[in-house]
Amino acid sequence: MPGLFIALEGGEGAGKSTQAQRLKARLEGVGRNVTITYEPGGTAFGQELWSIISERELEPLTELFLFATARAQHVVKVIKPALERGDVVISDRYVHSSLAYQGYGRGLPLNHVRAVNHVATQGIMPQAVFLLDVPVNIGLVRKGRAENDRIGSESQAFHTRVHDGYLVLAAEERDSFLVVDGTLPAEEVTRLLWKYLTPLLRVD
Ligand code: TMP
Repeated sequence: MPGLFIALEGGEGAGKSTQAQRLKARLEGVGRNVTITYEPGGTAFGQELWSIISERELEPLTELFLFATARAQHVVKVIKPALERGDVVISDRYVHSSLAYQGYGRGLPLNHVRAVNHVATQGIMPQAVFLLDVPVNIGLVRKGRAENDRIGSESQAFHTRVHDGYLVLAAEERDSFLVVDGTLPAEEVTRLLWKYLTPLLRVD
């Protein structure tokens, strides 16, 4: 059975990890093996990098490269092997996080963000990107300001650029994006994601 790669995207407090778990349960219910993973901490090395990224004052370009470095390791150690086993891989954040945060949020040129990520991922991109769309103020309250790291505690204007950037990316990449209202009840969000996912699971 061929592997299937799904990325969950969204701003702070969008409910991505909840949906990852709910989709996993459904997928296992239809007999699929599932690998849930996340960025930037999906490998031990990625976790080490995250402790630097989240605490140190970094230049935007340095931040871009550190996320891409974590991603390169993640692809080789986790994502590629799982896809080769035929798993459904659900990654909580992937390349579109860098486009939204480092591109739209920090203002780095999108073609630079794309180029760096193309190298880091060896061109491996998700077949489906689920964008859980939640208004910025609701997301930040949900996540809890107190727990926020350096990026999470950026200004409302930064998070608004990220939010709006995600919607532009979704409009540009209609074929692989599904935007779901993340303020809906969790069961309803799962139902919408599942409806989109089922045709992709069919093996012809
Ligand atoms: P979270 O996924 O637990 O919210 O934490 C990851 C934080 O890192 C979040 O603020 C988004 C940010 N981030 C980027 O800025 N670029 C990236 O490429 C990734 C994966 C995450």
